[in-house]
Parts: sequence; structure tokens; C-alpha cells
Amino acid sequence: MADKDTESARNYQVGVPARNEPFFLKGSNHLDWGLQNRLSQIFNPRSGRTVMLAFDHGYFLGPTSGLERIDLNIVPLTPYADTLMLTRGILRTSIPPTYTGGIVLRSSGGPSILKELSNEEIAISIDEAIRLNAAAMAVQVFIGGEYETKSIHNLTRLIDLGNQHGIATLGVTAVGRDMVRDANYMRLATRICAELGATYVKTYFVEQGFDTVVASCPVPIVIAGGKKLPEREALELAFNAVDQGACGVDMGRNIFQSECPLAMIQAVRKVVHENARVQEAYDYYLEIRDQQDSQSLK
Ligand code: 5RP
Repeated sequence: MADKDTESARNYQVGVPARNEPFFLKGSNHLDWGLQNRLSQIFNPRSGRTVMLAFDHGYFLGPTSGLERIDLNIVPLTPYADTLMLTRGILRTSIPPTYTGGIVLRSSGGPSILKELSNEEIAISIDEAIRLNAAAMAVQVFIGGEYETKSIHNLTRLIDLGNQHGIATLGVTAVGRDMVRDANYMRLATRICAELGATYVKTYFVEQGFDTVVASCPVPIVIAGGKKLPEREALELAFNAVDQGACGVDMGRNIFQSECPLAMIQAVRKVVHENARVQEAYDYYLEIRDQQDSQSLK
């Protein structure tokens, strides 16, 4: 029977070249199928961008404002996130396993807010990351910090382990309190992460020269939201970042500390995935916020 089936197959389209499309993310063409597939769980292949909802802050801050109750405050936002950035403890205890977006696990840690923050170790095994179906492992890198070399070693160790198993590594550039947050520093920190093999890098937006940070980093960059800003300003931050080449945001406090987190995450999506201008996104935020308010009065 097998022979007969083979004989009847004729539609080889010999003259049609085999499809060989480049992968949609910068610097990621050479990656193996599993890694590219996991990156497609983080970044939306249509827009090439991501809205990562970051709520891993408890790993050194404890129950900070807006994260007191993950089940009540964060879980309702998860359908609007492309990816969740969180610790394994919160993933297991508080996130329904029916969530199908990307999981980026906080994979370094150690010191609390009461100690020198840069003195981190790797805080997860690769077996755990695989068991939890992680798309990426996030590791903090303290360029210029007291424990710079140690944090870089944490990054390279996780890259080695991640590459063996097709799991991406996110290099998270942490800027010490006494360091200048300018393009010069961000170029240095992001480029070091990429040179050492990070699959993508998280950094902060800078007003002057952010486009040069993106240009000199050969892998995708996402920006952290940073301290809580008024909603319109946070949307402007997201807009400026993607407009200058960021592949999305890894936003925490500006979403979960917003007066209406559900409206804010949807407005951020409009900027990141639909290139909405700031005023359009802000109007969208106000519209959803007002709908929420009127529903809660019923
Ligand atoms: C905490 C982190 C956060 O995930 C990151 O800073 C994004 O959160 P925010 O937008 O609140 O800055 O890495 O260590």
C-alpha cells in the first residue's frame, strides 16, 4: 500500500522555491525551532512586539503596593498580557495553569530591599524552568555595580542552560542608585548582555538617544515601566520607546498601580500593538476606566 501512495503523489511543484522566511525578531534567525517558538509566545508575531506584565517585584520587595493580592489584582489583567514576568512561587500559587501566554520566570535573586541588591545568585534550576513551561528566564545584570562580575556570571550560566533546552534568557539591566541613567550607560549595559548571549534585553527608556541604544543592541529590547507616572505620561513613555525601536514593554507599576489597571493595560496594548498615538491611547484608557466605574456603581 505504501508504495502505491508514493506513486500517486505528483504535486511536487518543482519550480516553486521552498519557503524560507526569516524569523520576525531581530538577531534571532539562527535560533533553534524551540527557542523561536517560545519567543513567539512572548512577542506577538503579527506586531513583532510584546506587552509583558511585570509583577515579580515581591522577590525583593515583599507585598508592594498593587501586588498585595495577586489573585484579585493581577489575575484579571492576564488576558490582556502577551507574557507574564513573575516568580515561580506566584506562578504556582496564584496563576491559573489555563493561562496560555508566555511565562518569563524571575530567575535571579537573593538579597531583599534591606541589603545590597546587586549581590544576587541564580535562583532557579533549569529543571524547574522546564517543568513550569517557561518561555524565558529573566536575570538581573548590574553593570558598574559592586557585584557586576557575579551578576554577569549568573547571566551567562543561565544562557548556557537555556540554550541547551531552548529556553530564552532575558538580560535585565539594573541601574544602581548612584549611576547616571543615560544613553551611554544603556548602550553599554544592553550591548554587554547581547554580546554575552542574552536572547533579549530589558532596559530603561532614556529621553536622549534611546534610538542609539536600540541600534547598537543586536537583539530585541523591551523597556521597563519604572516608577508610577500619571497614566498619560506612562502611555507617552511606551509610545516613545516603540517609536524608537523597542519591541515592547515589560511594565509593572504603571499598570498595577494605575487608578484603573484593567483600562491601563488595554491602552498600553493599543500603543504597542496598534501604534496608537498618545492621545488616542489615553482617550481609550479614559473610556474603559469610565465604563469600569459605571459598572462598579451598579
Ligand atoms: C523588578 C523588575 C520589574 O519586573 C521591572 O522593573 C518592570 O517593572 P516596573 O515597570 O514596575 O519597573 O525587574 O526587579
